[in-house]
Amino acid sequence: MDTFKRCFFLSLAFLMFFFDDSRADFFGFQGEELIETMGDEVLVTSRQGVYNVEELEDDDDWQMVQTKGNQFVVNGQPFYVNGFNTYWLMVFAADLSTRGKVSELFQKASSVGLTVCRTWAFNDGQWRALQKSPSVYDEDVFKALDFAVSEAKKYKIRLILSLVNNWDAYGGKAQYVKWGNASGLNLTSVDEFFSHPTLRSYYKSHVKAVLNRVNTFTNITYKDDPTIFAWELMNEPRCASDPSGDTLQSWIAEMAAYVKSLDAKHLVEIGVEGFYGPSAPARTKFNPNSYATQVGTDFIRNHQALGVDFASVHIYADSWISQMISDAHLLFTKSWMEAHIEDAEKYLGMPVIFSEFGVSSKDTGYNSSYRDTLISTVYKTLLNSTKKGGSGAGSSCGSSSPMGRTTWMMAMQLSFQSLIRPQT
Ligand SMILES: *[C@@H]1O[C@H](CO)[C@@H](O)[C@H](O)[C@H]1NC(C)=O
Ligand SMILES: *[C@@H]1O[C@H](CO)[C@@H](O)[C@H](O)[C@H]1NC(C)=O
Ligand SMILES: *[C@@H]1O[C@H](CO)[C@@H](O)[C@H](O)[C@H]1NC(C)=O
Ligand SMILES: *[C@@H]1O[C@H](CO)[C@@H](O)[C@H](O)[C@H]1NC(C)=O
Ligand SMILES: *[C@@H]1O[C@H](CO)[C@@H](O)[C@H](O)[C@H]1NC(C)=O
Repeated sequence: MDTFKRCFFLSLAFLMFFFDDSRADFFGFQGEELIETMGDEVLVTSRQGVYNVEELEDDDDWQMVQTKGNQFVVNGQPFYVNGFNTYWLMVFAADLSTRGKVSELFQKASSVGLTVCRTWAFNDGQWRALQKSPSVYDEDVFKALDFAVSEAKKYKIRLILSLVNNWDAYGGKAQYVKWGNASGLNLTSVDEFFSHPTLRSYYKSHVKAVLNRVNTFTNITYKDDPTIFAWELMNEPRCASDPSGDTLQSWIAEMAAYVKSLDAKHLVEIGVEGFYGPSAPARTKFNPNSYATQVGTDFIRNHQALGVDFASVHIYADSWISQMISDAHLLFTKSWMEAHIEDAEKYLGMPVIFSEFGVSSKDTGYNSSYRDTLISTVYKTLLNSTKKGGSGAGSSCGSSSPMGRTTWMMAMQLSFQSLIRPQT
């Protein structure tokens, strides 16, 4: 079996093991069924822990990931994103009674060949806040993030660190606006996060604090640490108050350049869901609904901003189309993925990662065989494209916690870097 396929199965197995007990309901996951459906001998061996993890590199080989054309590379070799989302690392690490979960997660993830974890490097003004108020940090929580980063390094997992949320969970842009109001600004919309110079400066200060943080466990400054795969500007930015997309575009351009000015080495991605906007009218037919054109994001244009190194896309057909499960979701998923792969190849010349997808087990018409069909649709679309790209060795798959949507069964992260560029 090729690496690509093996990796996929192993990662599914990972989902089942790690979340089998404590978080099974969280995911609505029944591992055995999936094994039957997706069935493969590799799953069986990985259940017994027989999988040969690639030799862990020594420190000299632990270099920054970069892009080369449409591919990720490290030490001149292709790097395959085989990722998962786990937003709770810092919060769990902040409490000694749950800190061990972080290590356990990385250990298991590493044992099934996962290579990248996407998580939050923010928690603004909330319970166990990292940033209690603008530029004021809770040192214990920062140490918890340090711990997560150092454990990731230990298990050779790289991190995508997201820097703020569009949504209210963990504070988000609304918290920044509250801070602005509290300091005497007269703000009228949460979208002023993107436009108001004071709020932009709050965000930049946060970026600076994180990038210049010296890890108390490793003594490595974050901006120099190859454990960090990439900076994500924001989780799912939307600026519906300006459907032209200009406001968000200007924010992206400023912030991507700002991150690069502090840290020229790390990769940067935006974190958008991937909706097509006014700059690409011919592409809007791929959007899940007409509202998607109105949220102020614009996939192709957004990713043309200087400093953005690779693209990221989310896939939530049930949230975007209807919560009544139907084949339309599967058709959408396939065409959504294919369209973004084409963008990455034709217009952007960068890798694209499908960094979240999932379905809620609470949807009308949901059952586990539908879930498996959705997963295999994603997988087949990926594999099909990989083959077309001339590379049979691409690997990319993953699992995740539901990014703030507790009803989401799972979310997986897939990368297309290998399909876009044939290997020699
Ligand atoms: C706040 O802004 C609104 C509209 O932007 C304006 O009507 C109001 O007078 C302002 N209030 C203060 C105290 O400046
Ligand atoms: C900020 O304050 C203004 C004026 O009081 C208010 O209209 C607005 O809702 C506040 N915004 C937020 C996000 O609290
Ligand atoms: C970090 O630096 C401090 C101060 O120089 C030193 O005492 C400590 O041993 C270092 N820790 C590591 C992990 O290198
Ligand atoms: C599972 O759900 C799908 C979509 O709602 C439906 O078409 C299919 O018949 C269901 N299968 C079972 C076994 O219930
Ligand atoms: C794979 O790609 C071919 C050619 O582009 C297309 O005809 C076919 O429908 C695709 N199959 C799947 C399962 O996506």
